[in-house]
Amino acid sequence: MKLDIKKLSYGLGARVNGIDGTQALDAQTVQAVREAWLMHKVVVFPNMEITPAQHVAFSNNFGELELHLLPSVRHAQHPEIMEVTNRMSEGKPSVTAKTGREWHSDGAFTVCPPTGSLLHCRALPEVGGDTWFTNMVMAYDTLSVAMKRMIEPLQVVNNLQKSALRTRDPQQTDEENRRLIPPVVQPMVRLHPETGQKALFLSETVTTHIHGMSAQESEGLLKFLFTHSVRPEFTYRHCWSLWDLVMWDNRSTMHLAPADYDTAQIRHMSRTTIVGEPLGSLYEGDGA
Ligand code: SIN
Repeated sequence: MKLDIKKLSYGLGARVNGIDGTQALDAQTVQAVREAWLMHKVVVFPNMEITPAQHVAFSNNFGELELHLLPSVRHAQHPEIMEVTNRMSEGKPSVTAKTGREWHSDGAFTVCPPTGSLLHCRALPEVGGDTWFTNMVMAYDTLSVAMKRMIEPLQVVNNLQKSALRTRDPQQTDEENRRLIPPVVQPMVRLHPETGQKALFLSETVTTHIHGMSAQESEGLLKFLFTHSVRPEFTYRHCWSLWDLVMWDNRSTMHLAPADYDTAQIRHMSRTTIVGEPLGSLYEGDGA
């Protein structure tokens, strides 16, 4: 099965034309899409006008789907969908209105970070509302041999509270977050189980420090790696059209949804998230 694929940038990303998300996919097509996704890390299916139920069915081709840890962000009829929207909800701004404002890999703050995510565009502002992706394999590969050797055994502490405090209304979500999502320890360099590639796995959004080090000791190295990870040549910026569906690999990329639009206009995305493999452990302090 040969797909119609067009690369979108030097760093990562490809457009896959001609997939009809309203119909069940045969096994060969699923396999071909999967290969494109692993190779390009971000794949764009243009003009896929599908219902929430079809979004769930399409996503299920690539694995079991997560229910978001925070029940308040789930779609009412299809709990596998997380609504990323600035629409008001019960008279209040949605808690996901500012989701993704900093570089991150979805669910890196859990001990079973998701394999991939599929984001469907249901409403767009007149201009902007882009999503920006970076290739964390390229980020790793371009480090010096000495740096790779030094960081390979390190682990990071990831805590969703770090981002919640900056990008959300603490009144609304902090209690819920703290209870449901405690900090975790994850490898700084992640081995992709399907491609065998190594990728940096850390982000400014949730990484608080290097496990076993103080925040001060960690700061310089983390700052370098955060900046290095998002060098322009590793990235692809997706400028959405209505009904685009974008599927990315959380094991080898990070993404960012910049506030590059008039927030008085509606931006509404629906996200499904594919269950991942166990990775890391709950954080129990840094030891002596
Ligand atoms: C996300 O961070 O998963 C959402 C990204 C976006 O809304 O563009």
